[in-house]
Amino acid sequence: MNSETLLLRALRIEDEASFRNAAAEFSQSKSDMMFAFEYSEDVVFAEYVERVNRWPEGRDLPADFVSNAFFVGVVDHQIVGRISFRHCLTEFLARVGGHIGYVVLPSQRNRGYATEMVRQSLKYGRSLGLAKVLITCDTTNLASQRVIERNGGVYEDTTQEASLTIQKHRYWIPLAAPLYDQSTPP
Ligand SMILES: CC(C)(COP(=O)(O)OP(=O)(O)OC[C@H]1O[C@@H](n2cnc3c(N)ncnc32)[C@H](O)[C@@H]1OP(=O)(O)O)[C@@H](O)C(=O)NCCC(=O)NCCS
Repeated sequence: MNSETLLLRALRIEDEASFRNAAAEFSQSKSDMMFAFEYSEDVVFAEYVERVNRWPEGRDLPADFVSNAFFVGVVDHQIVGRISFRHCLTEFLARVGGHIGYVVLPSQRNRGYATEMVRQSLKYGRSLGLAKVLITCDTTNLASQRVIERNGGVYEDTTQEASLTIQKHRYWIPLAAPLYDQSTPP
């Protein structure tokens, strides 16, 4: 499976062309999610990489963000998706956003990449000392539900936020023990 070759890692300066292409591709999709935060075509990429990689330390964060790690999923030196792993939950994140947000480029879907990115990100969650990770998704997002379930997500409930038109499913993934093949070292 292609996902075996996926590497989840921090953004690097050498990712510039691939990252810019990925952001451009994702912006053409109808998703209400974002590929990249605080990014625009005119950013100086080296400065952007430095900024993003300060977020795990809680420095230079976008407004209303908690400390988080921004990881890209890379296959054959090309970015195929990204994950944001929030280190803690605010009241809003506990109800709506969860610990992890992820997107895969439209051209790269249904190859197991999101499932693999989430799997690898759980090791990061363990390294933070988290006992469990909250992931939410729209009730209509069947692909994301599958990704969560394949990573051991345990359904908690379905919520309706007053500010949102759509309901969210909430799942917890316990981190006490590896959930399936953990061949990639942490
Ligand atoms: C959701 C998303 C991340 C999935 O990425 P992906 O790389 O295609 O996911 P994977 O290939 O790892 O797994 C998708 C699974 O959903 C299944 N699937 C895909 N479309 C489906 C659909 N319409 N109905 C039911 N299942 C579907 C696939 O068959 C696969 O299941 P399998 O592993 O049992 O075969 C991607 O569609 C995306 O980026 N969407 C926009 C952003 C988003 O919704 N992010 C998640 C927010 S919670």
